[in-house]
Parts: sequence; C-alpha cells; structure tokens
Amino acid sequence: MTFVHSVFLGLIPRRTAFSAFEPESLAPTLRTGSAARVTSTQTRTRQIVPYRFAILPHDNTHSSSERYENAARVIMERMTLDPSTTDVLVIGGAGFIGSHIADSLVDDADVTVYDDLSTGHAENLHPDVSLRNDTIKNAERLTASVERADIVFHLAAQVSVQRSIEGPVPSHETNLDPILTILEAARGSDTRVVFASSAAIYGEPEYTPIDEDHPKEPNSPYGLEKLTADHYCRLYHDLYDVEAVALRYFNVYGPRQQAGDYSGVISIFREQARAGDSITVEGDGTQTRDFVHVDDVVQANLLAATADDAPGKGINVGTGTEITIRELAEAVKEATNSDSEIVHLETREGDIAESVADISRARETLGYDPEYDVYEGIEAYLGE
Ligand code: UD1
Repeated sequence: MTFVHSVFLGLIPRRTAFSAFEPESLAPTLRTGSAARVTSTQTRTRQIVPYRFAILPHDNTHSSSERYENAARVIMERMTLDPSTTDVLVIGGAGFIGSHIADSLVDDADVTVYDDLSTGHAENLHPDVSLRNDTIKNAERLTASVERADIVFHLAAQVSVQRSIEGPVPSHETNLDPILTILEAARGSDTRVVFASSAAIYGEPEYTPIDEDHPKEPNSPYGLEKLTADHYCRLYHDLYDVEAVALRYFNVYGPRQQAGDYSGVISIFREQARAGDSITVEGDGTQTRDFVHVDDVVQANLLAATADDAPGKGINVGTGTEITIRELAEAVKEATNSDSEIVHLETREGDIAESVADISRARETLGYDPEYDVYEGIEAYLGE
C-alpha cells in the first residue's frame, strides 16, 4: 500500500447520524482544493477529505514523501470520526486494479474482497482484508455480499479484448450478467456501486480527446459488454435511484499488472527490456494511447465512491495526454537501462490509431487530478 492511499480519504458510515450538515459547504472545497472542514455537527452519508488540498506544491523544495506526510498530518487532524464501520466490497479485489483499491481502504473501512482467484492472486491481498473466495456467477451469494456493503467496487472481469473475440459467450457471462445481480442487490438501499467500465466502449475514435458524449461503437464483444454494463449503471440510477457510477478506464498500468500475451503493453515492454529481449512494437509505433497509473485509477475510484454528483454518470479516467507506442518503447528502454533492440512487428488487427481521454468530467464531478504523467509513472513503476 502506498502511503498516500492509506490516508487518502475518510469514509463515514452512512448509519452515523449528525445534525445540521450543509452539503454546499463542501462543494467549493472539492473544486478549489482548499481544506474541507469536518466537525461532529455535520451530517453526511459519506465524507471525503480530498488529499490534494493537503499536499504541498510540486516544486523542488519538497520531496514527495514530505508532501504525503504533510497530507497525512492535515487529514488526521481533521478526522473527527472513526470510519472503521464502513463496509466496502471489492469484487475482483485480488486482481491488478482491485487489489490496489482494497489496499487503499484497509485503514478506513472493513474491506472484503470477493474473488474466485481465477486470474487474481491471494498474494495481492493485504493481511487486513477478508477474502470471500467465490464466483461472481453465483447470483445468490453475490447478492448476499453486496447487500452487506455500503460501497461496492466491481472490477471482476474477463479483461482481454482478444479473448472476447475468440470466445464471446464466456466473456459475456463474466462481464455482463454479474452487473445485473449487483445492481439488483443495490436496489432499495443507498449502497454506492462503482463499476470498472472501459475506453473500449467508444471503438475507433471519431475525434480526440474522447469525451463521454463521443459516439459509442465498440469493435469487440468486450467493448460491447462494458458499454451495456455502463448503460445499466445509468439506467438503474435513473429508474431505481441506485447510486451507480461507471468509470471508463483508458490504458492502466502499474505494479501487479501481469506480463503475458493478453496484458497491457507497458508490462510486456517492461519484461522484454528487463530480460534483454527485443521490445516488440506492433505496426509503425505511431499509434497513441493515454496511459494512466493505477494509483490515479485508485484516486478516481475513491472519489467516485463519495462524490455527490457521480451517481448516474459515466466518467473517463485517463491523464488527458497521449504518447506513441514507439515513444513508450524508448522510454521503457531508457528507464530500465536496457540494451534491448526495438523491433517492429505486424500491426495488430483492429488496432486503434489514436486514443486519449478528455478528463474534464472527472475533474469537475470528482475533483480528480492525476498525479503521474506517463514518464513519471513509468519511472515509478519500472524503478521498483
Ligand atoms: C487496452 C486494454 C483493454 C481496454 C482498452 C481501453 C489491455 C491488455 N487491454 O487495449 O482492456 O479496454 O485498452 O482502451 O490492457 N502493442 C505493441 N507491442 C506489444 C503489445 C502491444 O506494440 O507487445 C501495442 C498494441 O498494438 C496497441 C498498443 O500497444 O497499439 C496498446 O495495446 P494494449 O496494451 O494491448 O492495449 P489496448 O489495445 O489499447
């Protein structure tokens, strides 16, 4: 767990009642990044303390650990409530992204991970997390777990676009049916559901940066499954008042991402560079992506779990900047001090030429502000 995660936010259990809370008193603080005041006279179902306000500026006079320590101190001073009775369920919490979300909350909530360990790993689990080793295909048991939770993060998925093309039916069963179970279980409660959607819902971009209103023409079963689930979140909000939010991830990377045939390009390049093997750029390398570090994806999830205006929305999560795959290969080679040769292979069938997120909605609705650009993020990831 990174230090900043452990102090990132304070969650107040929804069952805790206080009087005379004024919601508008917090709104400007989320936008401006100034300090949020939390007192025992305030009532709020969930309370967020955005860490940005407390972090010292990015300049040469403060190291990052100084900045985070300052953030921790200020947040702790402002936390007047014991948040340990908030129940968080992370479905797919033994996987790459889910395990980072679970880590970030262990100090602030009771965290249960629901995972069948088919692609996730028990080693990813923090010792303070409870594991419910079960399949999301069992609707009855999944329902029971969701009903017990205040906040549900749903990340369990068949994550490979290529595999969904090879086998659309199993991909559908994993990626689509369970979201209905989860949303049904959340009906009639104020459980917040934060769903891991994907930039794959947009298909080939008609313009960039891609905002949330961009046409949605997914070109894979995976993209269609994510789009349908994303729509279900909005529909359950509109029809049944379920507090569901869909976060549309662009290209996520970071610690615990597996390198393999079906994994993200940064983890593949990292392994190749470390082993001294050729770094395999598919096509001419001019295609671009918006690579977002997993810590920033955690940030977006924690904000989405608490922001008042998030329910019912689909929200892009990226950095707002793009890099070519050739530049990426060179950056990985440099960061790992590798002698690997960069080679070019055939272009991947159906590959998207350009992808970059417009993150204005995430900034405005959540107060999201990514910490890493791709070069800083690669350095942090490859330097470990
Ligand atoms: C990724 C995600 C997908 C997500 C989508 C959102 C993965 C595996 N896929 O797909 O789940 O929904 O973003 O937009 O994370 N490349 C190489 N050499 C390699 C491997 C890849 O040059 O060895 C190239 C690919 O041809 C592609 C780019 O790198 O142009 C990115 O590939 P990849 O990491 O697989 O991600 P996406 O296809 O963008």
